[in-house]
Order: sequence, then C-alpha cells, then structure tokens
Amino acid sequence: MADIFDKHLSSFARALTETGPRPFSRPLTAIGEGEALVDGVRVVMTACNDYLGLSADPRVTAAAAKAAGEYGTSCSGSRLVCGTLPLHEELEARMAAFLGREAAIVTTTGFQANLALTPLFGRGDLVFSDAANHASLVDAIRLGAAAKRLYAHSDMADLERQLAAADPGTAKIIVTDGLFSMEGDLCRLPELTVLARRHGARLVVDGAHDIGLLGPGGRGVAEHFGLPDAVDLYTGTLSKCFGSVGGVLAGPATVINYLRYTARPVIFTASMPPAALAAALAALDIIEAEPERRMRVLDLAGRLRSGLREFGLSTGGAEGEPEAVTPIVPVHIGDEELCARMWGLLLDEGVFAHAVVAPAVPMGRALIRLSVQATHTDDHLSRILDAFAAAGRRLGLIPGARPLPRQARPADVMSAR
Ligand SMILES: Cc1ncc(COP(=O)(O)O)c(C=O)c1O
Repeated sequence: MADIFDKHLSSFARALTETGPRPFSRPLTAIGEGEALVDGVRVVMTACNDYLGLSADPRVTAAAAKAAGEYGTSCSGSRLVCGTLPLHEELEARMAAFLGREAAIVTTTGFQANLALTPLFGRGDLVFSDAANHASLVDAIRLGAAAKRLYAHSDMADLERQLAAADPGTAKIIVTDGLFSMEGDLCRLPELTVLARRHGARLVVDGAHDIGLLGPGGRGVAEHFGLPDAVDLYTGTLSKCFGSVGGVLAGPATVINYLRYTARPVIFTASMPPAALAAALAALDIIEAEPERRMRVLDLAGRLRSGLREFGLSTGGAEGEPEAVTPIVPVHIGDEELCARMWGLLLDEGVFAHAVVAPAVPMGRALIRLSVQATHTDDHLSRILDAFAAAGRRLGLIPGARPLPRQARPADVMSAR
C-alpha cells in the first residue's frame, strides 16, 4: 500500500531534516539593526527583507503596541463582517494616495493580495505571466479560470509573440513582479507598458519588493522608470519595506471595489490585525519623511555587488545588460548541495544568508540571496565580504580571494565563537 506521506517526501526535503546544517526555519532571536542571534551567536542578518530596517524602529513598534492596547490583538473576523477598523480605512486611503491610485484595499498578507486578483482571471480571459513571477501570482492564476500564457523571464519578444497570437477580442492581462524576488532584477516596465497598450492588455505589477524603496519618493518601479501611469493595478506587501505584515492592492476605485466584494482571500479570512495596521502607517510616515534610508540601502547594495564581483562571483544581470542596483543581491552557485554548504560556511563566518534552491529558482540554479538593509553598517558590509572570501575559498569558488581590510569584529561575535 502506498503511504501518502512517504510518496510526497522528496529526498531533498528528507536530507534537509536529517542532516545539518539546516538552512531553513532556524529560530532567530533578537532581530534588528541588521543583526540577529542564531543559537545564541550574533550574526549579520542578510536574509531578512526589512530593507528599510523599520520592523524594529521604536516609532513603528510603539505604534503597534499602542494599537494592540486600544483595539486588542485581532479583529477575529473578515473585513465584511467585524474586521474593519478606522485603521484599515486610514491605511487604504494613505496607500492609495502614496501610490497615486484612486483606491486601495489591504489584505492580511502580500500573498493574499495576489490571490485576490483571481476574480479578474475569468473563463475565456488570457493571463500572461513572467516565468520568474512569485509563487503567489502563480497560485492566483492557478485558482482563476483564465488560460495562462507563460513568457520566458523578462523576454519581451516572447511576450509580444504570445500577445500577437491571441485573439484580439479576448480580454488580456499581464502580470509581473516589479523587482524579482530571487534574482533582484527589475521588470522591463517601459517595454511592458508599450506591449500592454499595443495589445489592449491590462498590466498588473506586484511591487512587493519595490514599493517603499525604488523611485525618488519610494513609490516603486513605475516611479523608478518615470512612468507613473504605466501600471493598471498594483499589488504589494507590507512585510518588507513597511516593517509589518499585510498586503495591498491599489488601482481604479471600480476595480478595487469589485475585488473587495468578490475576492475570496479578502472575504473569507480574518482581516489585518490592529498592531500590523498601525506599524504600516508609522512606517509609511517614515518612508515619506526619510528618503535617506532608501539611498543608504541602494548605496550599500551597490558596494556589496562590486565587492562580490571583485572575488569573481556572479551577482546576476542578464548577459550584456547593465545591472540595476537593488537591495537583493544574488550570488549564483548553481549546484544545490554546494549552495547548502556555502550557506553553512557563511553562517560559521557570522553571516546569516538565504539559500535559494528549487522550486524558488529552477533546479541547478541555486543561489545565495543577500538582502541589504538600511540598518546595515559599513562594518557589516566588510564582514559579509570577508565571510564570502573565506567560505568561497574553502569551496574553491574564489581561488585567490584575500579578505578585505576591515575594522575589528565586535567583541560579542568573537566571544560567542
Ligand atoms: C514578489 C512577492 N510577492 C508577494 C509576496 C508575499 O508577501 P507576504 O510575505 O506579505 O505574504 C512575496 C514574499 O516574499 C514576494 O516576494
């Protein structure tokens, strides 16, 4: 008889649970200021998407605590029933204004914001999706009734071919990440806009990693490219730049209202809790008032990429194309096991990174993903580069790397070893 658990446990998952080092689900304590404690050892945190370092900002934590005191910890109900507070409406109005859209709706997670697109993916419609889109967009399409057309990652010729092959009478929608979460590259918004208009398709951009960060005002890829009206509908998360948890959709008021009353991930789930709402509102105040945080992240990320490239490591960017500087710095390793070993060695060197393996990236394209935060210091940067030099040399990935000169490592790191 077949056992359903045995059938579905892949050898890789088993290997991860049976052998160390364990790259996933490690309990962390005392996260903040670009560091964390792992098994009591203080490490540089490069796996966390708190790009602006706001999740531990005292203004944000105080706002969250105050809201929990006023409203309790949960609404214990969906938005339609008892789960709408003035804070939901305030955050929606603020996010709509911030993104320059007529209306917005907040969801309990960013994943749900993308799932909430499903009512737009109806029978007979066509959804064109970038092959590197986030799992939540992939699942939203799976849940919808529309036919899916996958185009090769950022391959505009492939997208155009598929758009041109579609019946002009069919309703079409293109969905793409704004800043791709694993490789840290930007969508080709200028070309996507032209193709969408030419073929009568609507354009949805998931700004999970770029809203709050890119563009002079932090309004995301559209502002970055100077195309404020390019995007028909935004989705995004409040769990990265906004130091909270929750999701957002922003667009024309009619569309947002339609989704508010038809999207099952809005109707049939408990709403965003008070502390998360207040944290996001406080973070939005800071995002609007402190552009220097954005500049700091991008400056650090640029320097990190340069340092890693000097070691001969590949940090992404399609062949022959200038790399956009974003806070996501991928270091391509390729082999999954080598990637897990690299991850373990980096941790030994005091750097907690993110080992990215299939299905988050195609099999054989494993990478170490580094997220830079505004709260990282220049010393953190040196420690990350030193760790790569040491780990890369041990694995033969960096033949002649010499650790860069740097300041002394803080005593707590040394004493904890
Ligand atoms: C591109 C993208 N979209 C959506 C999500 C989901 O966001 P959340 O973690 O808020 O559910 C993520 C999360 O990593 C993401 O990277």
